[in-house]
Amino acid sequence: MLRLLVCVSGGGTNLQAILDAIDNGTLTNAKVEAVISNNANAYALRRAGDRGIEALCISPKAYGNRELFNRALLEAAEKIAPDLIVLAGFLVAIPQEMIAAFPDRIINIHPSLIPSFCGVGYYGLRVHEAVLARGVKVTGATVHFVDGGMDTGPILLQKAVEVEPFDTPKSLQQRVMEQAEWQILPLAIDLIANGRVKVTEGKAAIV
Ligand code: GAR
Repeated sequence: MLRLLVCVSGGGTNLQAILDAIDNGTLTNAKVEAVISNNANAYALRRAGDRGIEALCISPKAYGNRELFNRALLEAAEKIAPDLIVLAGFLVAIPQEMIAAFPDRIINIHPSLIPSFCGVGYYGLRVHEAVLARGVKVTGATVHFVDGGMDTGPILLQKAVEVEPFDTPKSLQQRVMEQAEWQILPLAIDLIANGRVKVTEGKAAIV
């Protein structure tokens, strides 16, 4: 059984997709052990708490500096000792110490087809604003392993989504979530939980 720590910052619809996939049996051999948010008001914490899942808030505001916050985050993760950390809309730069402590054991969902519209400054609605500003016709979502860079780790799954002429950033965000994120994030976890993913030389392969 793969024990998951899910990290979230906001609404937690991706967390919900993981929980639903476990409930309906499309995601097997995995269990959400704990949820951490950097934001005390994140609705995601309620989703976890309501199901009796350990839900922790670790906010940078509670610490004197970034180093102390990073240490608290790492300590909490080490105490939970998950097999896999899932960044499901966690809008915090992951401390290098955490990446070193969980090599190839952290995955992230990003709401674009990496390497487009990713990296510093591209998160949440901003990604979809940039997509519309550039006028691309196809966007999507990516699940990747987390390495030392920003959205640079080995890509595990991607799914394309059409951009429609009438799209607003919000309508596009919703379609990318429904058609891509909520499908490929649980699928990625299922593949890992069932021993079907290998990471070698910076590339992730499904075996
Ligand atoms: C999702 O669209 C996720 O892809 C994005 O934040 C949103 C969180 O929504 N993540 C990033 O932009 C990371 N760079 P949710 O809280 O409803 O799952």
